[in-house]
Amino acid sequence: MGNLTRENILNMLKTTNDYVSGQEICDTLGLSRTAVWKHIKALKSDGYEISSVNNRGYRLESAPDILDEKVIKDNMKTSWLGKDIIYLPETDSTNTQVKRIAENGGAHGTVVVTDKQTAGKGRRGRGWISPSGNCYFSILLYPDIKVDRASMITLVAAMAVAGAVKEYSGKETFIKWPNDVVVNGKKICGILTESSTDLEYIQYVVVGIGINCNQKNFDEDITNTATSVALEMEHDIERGKLLGRVLELFERYYDIFMKTEDLSELKDEYNEHLINIGREVKIIEKDGEYVKKALGIDESGALIVEDENGSQDYIISGEVSVRGLYGYV
Ligand code: BTN
Repeated sequence: MGNLTRENILNMLKTTNDYVSGQEICDTLGLSRTAVWKHIKALKSDGYEISSVNNRGYRLESAPDILDEKVIKDNMKTSWLGKDIIYLPETDSTNTQVKRIAENGGAHGTVVVTDKQTAGKGRRGRGWISPSGNCYFSILLYPDIKVDRASMITLVAAMAVAGAVKEYSGKETFIKWPNDVVVNGKKICGILTESSTDLEYIQYVVVGIGINCNQKNFDEDITNTATSVALEMEHDIERGKLLGRVLELFERYYDIFMKTEDLSELKDEYNEHLINIGREVKIIEKDGEYVKKALGIDESGALIVEDENGSQDYIISGEVSVRGLYGYV
């Protein structure tokens, strides 16, 4: 039984949410009824849930969660991003892998994806616990921009993840400034951007994204502050599909960002996702903590805040906490 035929049957089932008749499959692909039935049986043993009803045919109920180059590519249409996708079943850190690739002259838009990291990195020198079942990936970019613009790419990435998670799950998805993606008040994704710079200019940027996809249990210290797409949707998800959409949106937003080399054309859409908007945020600075109302980001990605007298200030970096939302993880 050819794999190509099996794939063609699968593609026919994927084009509709309805039943496809056995006869139609036979006629389109030039197969006998028995051959179709054998392929369906094989697909089922590969994890595809396919229902069959007399006189109506076959319907694809769900697909297994496969994460590899092919599945990701089949689920995205991009013009330059992810032409090179490298899937590793396990690695130390996809950011570290992409840095190695960059040092060897890897292509702009290369993506490294893994199911499990053994030395995942978080912000501020923290680790990022990375069990199997989630989606960890890093993107290699060579933006011809000044060093002070690089941090904006992290906000671009947060927009792509928030957009894709919202579309995929149908759940309200927010960004907590600058780049945490939050569903149901809990963190669902972390982003770590690292860049290599040469005086004023950037040599390369690595955008590392970890999306909690099918994880059901979190360590005790983060169990109240972390969630996953599967937990929110109450069923396992197809990571390849979600990742494909994140990459599509990242390419779209990144191209817009590069036109102006700032967030002027993206800030309104970013602010629509921003959980901080109109809320009081606690700003932690060297000289102390203070509480102000967040108004949104400006074109540089700074968070505009206002005190009770109406005077405004710009938070450029660091972390802020939002009243009623989780603390830092
Ligand atoms: C954070 O602290 O919120 C950022 C976490 C970033 C984790 C991702 S997972 C993929 C990529 N590889 C890493 O080692 N870290 C980032």
